[in-house]
Amino acid sequence: MKVSDRAFEMKIGADISEVAAHAAGFSGSRATAFDRSEAKVVPMTSGKGVISGFAQAVAAILNHLGLKTEVASKNDVGGISEAFTDGAKMVFAADDEFFVGLNLRNLKVSYNYDATGRGYAAALEKKIDGLDGKSVALIGAGRVGSAAAEYMCRRGANVFAYDPLGWKVDELRRRLPLCLKCGTVAECISRGDHVMLAAPGRNFITARMIKEGAIFTAPAVPLGFTKAALEKLGQDRIIHDKLALGVATMAFDLVS
Ligand SMILES: NC(=O)c1ccc[n+]([C@@H]2O[C@H](COP(=O)([O-])OP(=O)(O)OC[C@H]3O[C@@H](n4cnc5c(N)ncnc54)[C@H](O)[C@@H]3O)[C@@H](O)[C@H]2O)c1
Repeated sequence: MKVSDRAFEMKIGADISEVAAHAAGFSGSRATAFDRSEAKVVPMTSGKGVISGFAQAVAAILNHLGLKTEVASKNDVGGISEAFTDGAKMVFAADDEFFVGLNLRNLKVSYNYDATGRGYAAALEKKIDGLDGKSVALIGAGRVGSAAAEYMCRRGANVFAYDPLGWKVDELRRRLPLCLKCGTVAECISRGDHVMLAAPGRNFITARMIKEGAIFTAPAVPLGFTKAALEKLGQDRIIHDKLALGVATMAFDLVS
């Protein structure tokens, strides 16, 4: 897998490693963050089974950051024991429910959904020069969206949230009382200067919802834009990749 750092850097003025380190609260030197560390990605066969190419893609992202990583030769428990016997410092593994990074030395754990939410919120923060006082529409108050909301609220953003499962926004508001609840996607987007798209779906973000100057930071897969909405937005106003930013943030979480 080729990690498209150049495109990312041109779009938001920072590379993936810089944004991920910021999202993780990492304050050391990024150049030496993963020196003397090795990692294994362990494929898991439980649930729907091994996703073809997934472990290799995660390993490519971690190697790109400077963390020497290989895919374990065995799956499941065999792969975990291989990580221990080979002296790996970190293990990355995913099943249908969880994708985690584990630091075997300092016992830190990082969850992909949480790291992804923070990573995309930090990317927006870089792109718009800070979140304080800015209004952000949050579409989708699931695991990724909630983590993003927490990051953005802590940095002074006004978050407007919509989820068809309204109880998820109510739950979010118990932790983040300043986060406001919206009744529809369109209302939510109209209230934000910018948008965090953290809900899967197709063709539910239409061209009429795209405001002048709004940035869409969008971990969602699939991306819910209609063709006309995508054309109106243009590539420069969408921050999106399928894996790299969340995985990079997990890696920095484990050394922060
Ligand atoms: N890019 C990445 O690296 C990365 C990493 C993890 C997850 N994701 C993607 O992020 C998205 C969120 O993941 P998650 O783990 O939080 O999932 P989740 O299931 O926990 O949350 C998704 C939420 O979106 C809501 N939703 C569905 N349709 C909606 C709509 N039309 N408008 C508003 N909300 C709607 C659901 O009710 C749910 O609460 C998914 O698309 C997932 O594939 C991407």
